Amino acid sequence: MRLNKIDFEFIHFKSIDSTNNYAKTLCNQNLINKVIIADTQTAGRTTKKQCWISPKGNLYFSIILPLKCEKNLPEFSFISALSIVESIKEISTPQNIIKIKWPNDILLNKQKLCGILIEKENDKVIIGIGINIISSPDVSLTRYPTTNLKKNNIKTTPSKLAELVLEKLVNNINLRNNNGFKAIISKIIPYMYKFNDTIYLEINNQKLSGIFCGLDETGALLLKTDDETKVIFSGEMTKENFI
Ligand code: BTN
Repeated sequence: MRLNKIDFEFIHFKSIDSTNNYAKTLCNQNLINKVIIADTQTAGRTTKKQCWISPKGNLYFSIILPLKCEKNLPEFSFISALSIVESIKEISTPQNIIKIKWPNDILLNKQKLCGILIEKENDKVIIGIGINIISSPDVSLTRYPTTNLKKNNIKTTPSKLAELVLEKLVNNINLRNNNGFKAIISKIIPYMYKFNDTIYLEINNQKLSGIFCGLDETGALLLKTDDETKVIFSGEMTKENFI
């Protein structure tokens, strides 16, 4: 079934605990195609169960979509990252470098701009997105340097950016449904941070390095080491990648 942006209803809150939490309650009422957006969150969540600091002026929103097959859940994380990068590129100037740090962190000029939290509830997927528009948390509070759009002379508002990201997301999901996930992988590769370069990964407390030489058809990272090409399904690029 083809998605259409006009079928999505925006639900706006001045303040909420977490847009993903509210999305969960809507999923349990069997609702889909909803966008929950909040000016601030009092208990925004990250993938590592930490607090996503959510002051006014930045974008916090969650999108509810039907999930046809659980196997496709990780695909939504790549599709979301691609849609955000395309949106920022559209409103940015060419001197700003916008990249995806595998698997789904968005870097603007090598600093973290955004967070994506994908969750499943019943037969639905919740895509939670936080984008720093006018402020970003102090480096002492985060694992990586962070940035925001204003600092890089990119002007927008939370509602305009949410509309743009939704538009790209709908287009990319339709592309995936028509042409397969491979079409998304092809679009993502040019945006990958350190592609064809040496990278350092941490996988279950083990360090590994090699050349980031590709993504397979599921989005797994292909790492060329001295003796083989390893397929990496999960892991994190470490701080060494920013030096
Ligand atoms: C991460 O970087 O670990 C993901 C952070 C995701 C934050 C967003 S803000 C909107 C939505 N609601 C939440 O509670 N979290 C996500």
